[in-house]
Amino acid sequence: HRYRDPGAGDKMVPFAEQEAWENCQSGKATLKSGSRNKQASADYEFVFEDGIGFIKESIMDGVNLEDEMSSEKPDDSTAKNALQKLQEERKTLPIHPYRDELLQAIHDHQVMVIVGETGSGKTTQIPQYLHEAGYTKRGLVGCTQPRRVAAMSVAARVSQEMGVKLGHEVGYSIRFEDCSSEKTILKYMTDGMLLREFLSEPDLASYSVIMVDEGHERTLSTDILFGLVKDVTRFRKDLKLLISSATLDAKKFSDYFDSAPIFKIPGRRFPVTINFTKAPEADYIDAAIVTVLQIHVTQPPGDILVFLTGQEEIETIDEILKYRTRGFGTKIAELIICPIYANLPTELQAKIFEPTPDGARKVVLATNIAETSLTIDGIKYVVDPGFCKIKSYNPRTGVESLLINPISKASAMQRAGRSGRTGPGMCFRLYTAYNFQHDLDDNAVPEIQRTNLANVVLTLKSLGINDLVNFDFMDPPPSEALLEALGQLYALNALNSLGELTKIGRRMAEFPLDPMLSKMIVASEKYKCSEEAITIASMLSIGNSIFYRPKDKQVHADNARMNFHTGNVGDHIALLNVYNTWKETNYSTQWCYENYIQVRSMKRARDIRDQLEGLLERVEIEPTSNLSDLDAVKRAITSGFFHHSAKLQKTGAYRTLKKPQTVHIHPSSGLAEVLPRWVIYHELVLTTKEYMRQVTELKPEWLIEIAPHYYQMKDVEDASTTKMPRGKGLAAD
Ligand code: CDP
Ligand code: MG
Repeated sequence: HRYRDPGAGDKMVPFAEQEAWENCQSGKATLKSGSRNKQASADYEFVFEDGIGFIKESIMDGVNLEDEMSSEKPDDSTAKNALQKLQEERKTLPIHPYRDELLQAIHDHQVMVIVGETGSGKTTQIPQYLHEAGYTKRGLVGCTQPRRVAAMSVAARVSQEMGVKLGHEVGYSIRFEDCSSEKTILKYMTDGMLLREFLSEPDLASYSVIMVDEGHERTLSTDILFGLVKDVTRFRKDLKLLISSATLDAKKFSDYFDSAPIFKIPGRRFPVTINFTKAPEADYIDAAIVTVLQIHVTQPPGDILVFLTGQEEIETIDEILKYRTRGFGTKIAELIICPIYANLPTELQAKIFEPTPDGARKVVLATNIAETSLTIDGIKYVVDPGFCKIKSYNPRTGVESLLINPISKASAMQRAGRSGRTGPGMCFRLYTAYNFQHDLDDNAVPEIQRTNLANVVLTLKSLGINDLVNFDFMDPPPSEALLEALGQLYALNALNSLGELTKIGRRMAEFPLDPMLSKMIVASEKYKCSEEAITIASMLSIGNSIFYRPKDKQVHADNARMNFHTGNVGDHIALLNVYNTWKETNYSTQWCYENYIQVRSMKRARDIRDQLEGLLERVEIEPTSNLSDLDAVKRAITSGFFHHSAKLQKTGAYRTLKKPQTVHIHPSSGLAEVLPRWVIYHELVLTTKEYMRQVTELKPEWLIEIAPHYYQMKDVEDASTTKMPRGKGLAAD
């Protein structure tokens, strides 16, 4: 484990009171009066079962601007209308004093790098300033965000500030959801969406300004955008380009954009006290919960922000915190728990921005999204377990997985800084100072260097960029990964042997999906099952949030789920069955409840499906249904996913056919107990083992029929298990 500190001493030390901290620093770690355990049992009905000791390590400098800030604070007592109040709030943002200077600089330079601390107002204000200065008369102001939630929530905020309806003058565009209109002048969008816009408008003619926001995040799409927009600014001298970043690493951006000037917005930050645990924590989930409760019971008012790695973790902690604060009674303030993550339904997102009622405390359970993309006012305490989920790709095995990894030092600093926005803050790191110093990298590796590039390569090829090796990357991807992507696209028939886009590839590029899914859809034309293919693609696109399994009704939920698997049809067809049955009930919510299906996920699948249907028309594929021939549907799936094939071993485990590795059927699969000899899977997930998720039985001869250039007879022959006849009778059944 990376979080093992060889010098770690005893773990139970007092917490919270200054005196107690000093004690642990001087080694006198005893539970004495003033430590929270004692206090908790004496004054409150609530007792900690296990506490965590922290060591105050350092104070992160801040510029104390309290006086200036408070004098500018809007006066809440007068009855002003909301719009006016928002306008006044805008004037208190750190960026406000630099408005005119900034506009002048944008006027003078075509490309500019803008650096400013998170929360200074870059995302919400700069596009409005540009509008006020008249840039929207010449075209749209587009602002990209790495995350969909950020694009939505920022657009909502800006539409409020401008007093217009979301989707009118201020809109957003994220994959499968376009909330913009003819009227839109300020458009927030994910970086991936702007990338797709290049397909229809390679010179971005409808835009007057592009702001690539959160440049420091270095997502794959942002990195590709850098190369594309840099090129556009060369022949469109009227297009303004702003690259904004929350970190001080701006020099790199400036160098890349031909020494573009850097505009710094001085931050306003209060000092933040950094605390580390005295010893490494074995279970950071538990440690986070205990820390939140400790803060709540012992510390002065102020909201808490906890950084977690994903939805599941957030839901777990949400549940446990609710449970553990139930017995609080009236002596302890209310703790309002607000989760925020990418798939959180829109209507629940607004809750995190609501001001905390007097006497209560808010705890925001967030993913990395709250690190720089979203600013929540009132946070005074940050709890940082030190982890985040990142995508990592192994070009050798072709496996891409989401793994929980330690964060970088830069991230840790960003996270800590979130507590010092409106007053002195405190950050509780659930790792030791030793870990911070020795185990964390300085910066995260850009996504382009750790991801499957097939999607991007397909997009670039369809933009006519053929020479990928000489594409102007800020940091080039490993050539191994580039070759692997080209190989994969060639195998999918998206590229020919010269590396040029084929007709199939051109059609595939129209779909905002992973190339394997796009290929499945394009291939479904041949098997006359395009209706089924887009249903399956939409169901797969919403991830694994379709079925739910309440703890007290697991048996019922499992039974309901298995109904869709009747005949061991496999997980893909089961998803199809779920969708089609729901459709037959006229999209009934009641039916979803009865079958332990998340209606919200289903509605999203339906939206996605509608859009894929539109795209089918665009690439001129007839909508056809072939429900009577499920093998045809499975062949279409195989056409996209033949790379993902595996064969049962004598051991009961599976082995992937190419680039062999041992894998297992995920316990949630309908085939988990059936164990067919040959399977095709949607994805691999690594938990305790390497699991295949969404599995369908396969006839091995399909592989040779569908991908003859990828599979030869020897690949599907059976040397290890029962002999199979060669040639025609090859099928296992
Ligand atoms: O982009 P940057 O981090 O510099 O700041 P911003 O996102 O423009 O945020 C400026 C201010 O707007 C923050 O202090 C938030 O209080 C507020 N804001 C909000 O209330 N609701 C949002 N959805 C986004 C921002
Ligand atoms: Mg921002």
